[in-house]
Amino acid sequence: MNILIIGANGGIGKEITLQLKQEYPDAHIIGTYHQNKADIDIEWVQMDAMNPQLDLEVDSLDFIMSCIGFLGNDTLRPEKGLSQLKADYMLKSFQINCFAFPLILSQLRSKIKRDRPCFISALSAKVGSIDDNKMGGWHSYRSSKAALNMMLKNIAIEFERTHKQVKVYSIHPGTTQTKLSEKFLSGYGNKVHKPAGSAQNILALFKKDYPSGSFLNWDGSVLPW
Ligand SMILES: NC(=O)c1ccc[n+]([C@@H]2O[C@H](COP(=O)([O-])OP(=O)(O)OC[C@H]3O[C@@H](n4cnc5c(N)ncnc54)[C@H](OP(=O)(O)O)[C@@H]3O)[C@@H](O)[C@H]2O)c1
Repeated sequence: MNILIIGANGGIGKEITLQLKQEYPDAHIIGTYHQNKADIDIEWVQMDAMNPQLDLEVDSLDFIMSCIGFLGNDTLRPEKGLSQLKADYMLKSFQINCFAFPLILSQLRSKIKRDRPCFISALSAKVGSIDDNKMGGWHSYRSSKAALNMMLKNIAIEFERTHKQVKVYSIHPGTTQTKLSEKFLSGYGNKVHKPAGSAQNILALFKKDYPSGSFLNWDGSVLPW
């Protein structure tokens, strides 16, 4: 079994990689990192989502998950209102949260086989649900995740025609204590998950039989688009 985790060094991505390695000790696991590898014994490949290029040696892939994401840094912060919109932040949000994964899939398409199962998924966010949006704010992050959801739905429809065993999911991991979320966790109290718990919740979703093209919540419920 060949597994690719994009962002295997991130808060949630690292835990997903560790748990997959434990469950499938014989699998060939490839993980991408951007800045620093995590301390896990897998094949590591460097990849920058701002210019996503991925050339892998494997013939086929059975499980591909994107765990990369961008909400802000010291200078670029999620917007509270229209007056705070900045083109560089908007573009970076879309490049990392939405454009990178479909571009990588496009490069790896020949490794997704017609005659064998493959799970393709990305960590999205519930705030990317247009239907569920009651609070507003975070214009670029929300919009980039909504656009990612549309990409994934489209990719699911494309594979349904020719690759009947391929399943494509968009997944909300639940609010999780990581670098991405750390500045925004006040007020969540004990509703915040640890990365290991989130990874466990996410991997449990693959044991159930959801239709391809679903937007899944960490607790197993299906989210509205
Ligand atoms: N944490 C939450 O509460 C929460 C809630 C909803 C959705 N999510 C989603 O869950 C996913 C995982 O987030 P996390 O909480 O685990 O955050 P995290 O610990 O900050 O991890 C983010 C990952 O994205 C990678 N990344 C960022 N910029 C990149 C770039 N230019 N090129 C390549 N990789 C890049 C990081 O790699 P480097 O560190 O090497 O740059 C890291 O692997 C994201 O899609 C996030 O939107 C998280």
